[in-house]
This record gives sequence, structure tokens and C-alpha cells, in this order.
Amino acid sequence: MSVTRSGVGMWAIGAPDFGAQLELVELAEPEAGPNELKVRLFAASVNPFDRKVLNGMLRGSAEHVFPLVPGTDGAGEVVGSGERIFGTFFHHPVGRGTYAEYVTVPAGNALAPLPEDLDPAVAAALPTAGMTALQLVERLGSAESVLIIGPHGGVGSFAVQIARAAGKRVIPIERGDSLVEADALIDLVSTDRSTFESNARYAPLAFNTNYVSADKAQNFGMKGSRETLVRLASMVQAGDLSVPIARRLPLRDAGDVFAGHGPGKTVIIM
Ligand SMILES: NC(=O)c1ccc[n+]([C@@H]2O[C@H](COP(=O)([O-])OP(=O)(O)OC[C@H]3O[C@@H](n4cnc5c(N)ncnc54)[C@H](OP(=O)(O)O)[C@@H]3O)[C@@H](O)[C@H]2O)c1
Repeated sequence: MSVTRSGVGMWAIGAPDFGAQLELVELAEPEAGPNELKVRLFAASVNPFDRKVLNGMLRGSAEHVFPLVPGTDGAGEVVGSGERIFGTFFHHPVGRGTYAEYVTVPAGNALAPLPEDLDPAVAAALPTAGMTALQLVERLGSAESVLIIGPHGGVGSFAVQIARAAGKRVIPIERGDSLVEADALIDLVSTDRSTFESNARYAPLAFNTNYVSADKAQNFGMKGSRETLVRLASMVQAGDLSVPIARRLPLRDAGDVFAGHGPGKTVIIM
């Protein structure tokens, strides 16, 4: 990015209020606190969680700062040491996320080395969606067949590949498709209990990612870890996992980052 108007700040994509349009904003560079890292980002990826936070999902349960800069996932280099890292940068207060040139992050977050030969945009696309997909497939145990609803999105495109590599018969369920019986179900789409529960009738083992089931065991929550990130990076480097990037947007053009949607991930390039 070019030098900011004042020459001392950074560029970011932020919104003045919950639910407001994102726009290019100039902010002071964040300063790392105790046990935090300051990272110059190369790329950030877009997850549905970012939009939910912008729309106020955490309102009342976490402190927010405005302009609210969304973004959890990213890849960059640690200011000072130059160490290249990627992972999840979620921290408090909410609103100084990865849609920015610089971010600070607690050193204990799920972060892993960014290999020299891994495209930072690809690494930035991996953390939330990749860790979710990998951990969901691990939950399937010995199930031989799995329905995946939402197979072309961020999580789905990874889950389909990882489940197939694990030897499972994957039945992708796109919009309008009918469900069939299978050993397991990964529902990445349902946002209400009754829709999920009617889908879950097709498989004895069923998970959703939107916390909509009355049965907590069916509500999957990703747990970020360095080890999972390292595994994902290794899978990509070995050619065992491809990372579908639908759009690469320069930061200055990322105000409409939530508009339009292709299969796979949207990545913001700093
Ligand atoms: N609990 C957790 O730990 C966790 C972690 C990661 C993600 N999530 C959540 O999981 C969900 C999926 O995440 P994601 O990153 O994969 O989102 P995404 O990239 O937006 O993908 C969702 C996919 O589902 C498709 N879809 C929408 N409605 C559908 C329907 N009725 N039938 C079949 N496919 C449909 C979408 O297609 P179109 O593009 O055509 O709409 C899109 O391809 C989000 O709600 C996210 O917040 C939860």
C-alpha cells in the first residue's frame, strides 16, 4: 500500500458502526502490549464470522472499537523479529482485525510459521476454514459416508477434500439437492434448529457449525491450534490440499469485500 495521508498511520478497512458499509480508513498503527506481537500483514482472508461480528454478533458480550475493522485470519511478519507467521488473530477489544496493514495479537493465539514456499494469500485462507474442516472430519471416526451441505464454501471446499483423502465417500449437497441416507452429516448451512434437525434425520452422526442443535454434541466449535495449522500447511505443500481462492482484492478496493461470493475463499492482499 501507499503511504497514508498523515504518513504515520496505516490503512485498514473499517465501518463506523455495526452493520455499516466498510470503507478504507486511516488508523494509527497498533502497539503491541505485554505478551503480544505486532504483525505486518501480507494477506487476510474473509470468513462469515467477520460479517457476523460487523453486524453485532458480539455486541454486549465484548468491548468493541470503531471504526470496526473485521478479520480474524491472516499471514504476515512479526515486526522486530521478521518471523513469518500465519493463523488466527482474534483478540480484544473487537474491531482491530486483520483487514489492515498491521495487527497486534496475543502470542498465545493459534499461530504457526509461514513456510517460505507457501503463498501468504493461501496461508491466510487456511486458518478458520481449514482448521474447522480438519477437526470436523476427525470427528467422523469410522463413518464411511458423509453428507456435506455447503460443499463449495470456505469450510466445505476443505472438508470435501480432507474427507475424501481419509477414504470417506463424500456426498456434496448443493442448494436444492435432496438429502440421502449416510453415516454422517456435516451441515455448514442451517441457521435454525428445525432445519438442522430435519437434515440430521438422514445420518446417525451429525454436526452443524452454527450452534443450532438442542443436542450440544452436534454443535461443532473449532479449536485453533498451532499443531493443526502446521498440519494444514504441510498438506498444501505436499499437494494433498488445494486452496480455492475465488477473489484476491487489494486492501484499497476491499470496501465491498462481503459483496458477491464465489466458490472458495476471498483474500485481501495488503
Ligand atoms: N462453529 C465454528 O467453529 C465455525 C467455524 C467456521 C465456520 N463456521 C460457520 O460455518 C458456516 C460456513 O462457513 P464457510 O466459511 O464455509 O461459509 P461460506 O464460505 O459462506 O460457505 C457457505 C456455502 O454454503 C452454500 N450454501 C448456502 N445455502 C445453502 C443451501 N441451502 N444448500 C447448500 N449450500 C448452501 C453457499 O453457497 P452460496 O455462495 O451460493 O450462498 C456457500 O458456498 C458459517 O455460518 C460460519 O460462520 C463456524
